[in-house]
Amino acid sequence: MLLTIEDLHLYYGHIYAVKGVSFNVAEGEIMAVMGSNGAGKSTTIKALCGLLKPRQGKIWLAGRDVTGLNAERIALAGIGYVPEGRRVFSQMSVLENLLIGAYARRRESTLAQEMELIYSYFPVLERKARLLAGTLSGGEQQMLALGRALMTRPRLLVLDEPSLGLAPIVVKQVFALLQRLNRENGLSILLVEQNAHAALRIAHHGIVLETGQVSLRGSATELLENPVIQAIYLGGKEYQTPARTDNHAAPDPGVDADLVAGDG
Ligand SMILES: Nc1ncnc2c1ncn2[C@@H]1O[C@H](COP(=O)(O)OP(=O)(O)OP(=O)(O)O)[C@@H](O)[C@H]1O
Ligand SMILES: [Mg+2]
Repeated sequence: MLLTIEDLHLYYGHIYAVKGVSFNVAEGEIMAVMGSNGAGKSTTIKALCGLLKPRQGKIWLAGRDVTGLNAERIALAGIGYVPEGRRVFSQMSVLENLLIGAYARRRESTLAQEMELIYSYFPVLERKARLLAGTLSGGEQQMLALGRALMTRPRLLVLDEPSLGLAPIVVKQVFALLQRLNRENGLSILLVEQNAHAALRIAHHGIVLETGQVSLRGSATELLENPVIQAIYLGGKEYQTPARTDNHAAPDPGVDADLVAGDG
């Protein structure tokens, strides 16, 4: 296994956010972490990326115990992190943003090669290399955040909700790129996404988090076919029907409540 997370327990002060999460990412696979707002997705990967110390549990990267290492050491150990909301430096140029990624790299000698690779994947970043990152569109900023993380030559790329706030067509482009990086370079990817449909279309395996615990896990195919996933995360009808019925059950002021109740 490339990554093993074992019985992770995470707190913000007294708030118990992640309650014994375990999962693996195999070398060369895309693993999707799904779940609704507040489920503990970002918290889990913050711990993985060295931004939050686990109260309990272990994190292993390629057989090495990296539990509790700080963010810089985690980056050096081979985890590239694309945070929620992208966080590019808007007052710096595109090129400068990419070079920041290079600081975490182990060797200086391959910088030109890395730039070439990034530009081959993201031609727009080469065209706009000298512009301020703040002038890029949301989709371009996501590409830049991705490119910056790739400059560290990660063994595992970790992305927190890359689709957030992007138009559907741009989401498609970003996910197509992730799939290409996985297929062509064998890059292992841990993808946190509320957009389960987009995630499961490129992932090999997935887990669903619910109030800080794993509620479902399986192959992407199994999860796509799972009725619970279809209902809640893929916008299936089963999920919407009860909500509509509830609305209709509230009687109109002008309608006889007994009649409405007797209707069904
Ligand atoms: N800085 C913080 N301080 C206190 N509680 C927090 C903090 N960040 C998150 N939490 C709480 O921890 C729990 C998990 O939050 P987390 O951000 O991991 O959810 P998430 O699955 O990433 O949700 P989203 O899809 O909205 O990003 C939530 O109950 C949240 O309110
Ligand atoms: Mg989050």
